[in-house]
Amino acid sequence: MSPHINLTQFIVKQQRTNPQSTGDLSGLINDIASACKEISHLVNRSGIMGIGGVAESENVQGEVQKELDIITNDVMVNHLNWTGHLAAMASEEIEEIIQIPKQFPKGKYLITFDPLDGSSNIDINLSVGTIFSILRCPDGVTEPTEATFKQKGIEQVCAGFCVYGPTTMLIITTGNGVDGFTLDQDVGEFILTHPKMTIPEDTNEFAINMSNQRFWEESVQRYINECMQGVDGGRDKNFNMRWVASMVAEVYRVLTRGGIFLYPIDNKPLTEGGKLRLMYEASPMSFIVEQAGGISSTGRERIMEITPEGVHQRVPVILGSKNEVERIISYHQD
Ligand code: AHG
Ligand code: MN
Ligand code: MN
Repeated sequence: MSPHINLTQFIVKQQRTNPQSTGDLSGLINDIASACKEISHLVNRSGIMGIGGVAESENVQGEVQKELDIITNDVMVNHLNWTGHLAAMASEEIEEIIQIPKQFPKGKYLITFDPLDGSSNIDINLSVGTIFSILRCPDGVTEPTEATFKQKGIEQVCAGFCVYGPTTMLIITTGNGVDGFTLDQDVGEFILTHPKMTIPEDTNEFAINMSNQRFWEESVQRYINECMQGVDGGRDKNFNMRWVASMVAEVYRVLTRGGIFLYPIDNKPLTEGGKLRLMYEASPMSFIVEQAGGISSTGRERIMEITPEGVHQRVPVILGSKNEVERIISYHQD
């Protein structure tokens, strides 16, 4: 046997700890991993294949779609819709709930996904990713609607993301810590390389899009100003800043060396409520961050406890190292 643990072995081991397990979740995670391998390959070859450009369409949020947004959405749907683990799907790129075609069996889970996060980074060759969240389809529901999906983040069975960077990595939680797998491109397997990832409680690194500064509310202005002032402004340390504009890359960094990531509410009319989408960006990332010992909040409430109003709802996001997120929450209370 190989000295490495691959993703399949890892999930089968986890499955064996639960005697009631049917293997459905393991099967679904394997399907997602297969889709991510194909997306990794497509992202890697997008320039050569001539698919790295802008599509002539907009998504439900009115954002211009990239060709790869549409292609990767199809890859996810085509890997997930026929294996019998899902009752329905929801994607950033499709306004309506995606139903399972009649000829295929339906399963007991629901999935929401952002097939390509950070897609504005494709043409500049920076990291992009795929984010997903798995929920249970309630017993007796055979035709899931948007209402079936409106479950709080605490109901998630599993959440994860794959980042297509210098290496392709899959980060996953089923509520038992966070584990990171690196894609061995030669063998085509995800290998467990980062078991039990934890976020340091303290950090001196923040990530925010500073160009929105004048639109933020007072509490965020205060926090970022203090970070910028560092030891000259009353903090006991100086801060460093990063902004990749791919949430997958930012959260991966936070998981690896700590940090705080903010996409706060701002008063620009188009993004009232924040920019990031609750059900396929904020909620799965919150599950992962909390499982790694961090905190994820809107500033006012725990993201995992928000009852969704709709599948494409946006929320403010403040997540990362515990002590810094707690500080910002306290500024919101002030
Ligand atoms: P997507 O490409 O799926 O629309 O998501 C992009 C998101 C997120 O990944 C990132 O943190 C943020 O948008 C970047 O926003 P700005 O362009 O405002 O910096
Ligand atoms: Mn996204
Ligand atoms: Mn996207």
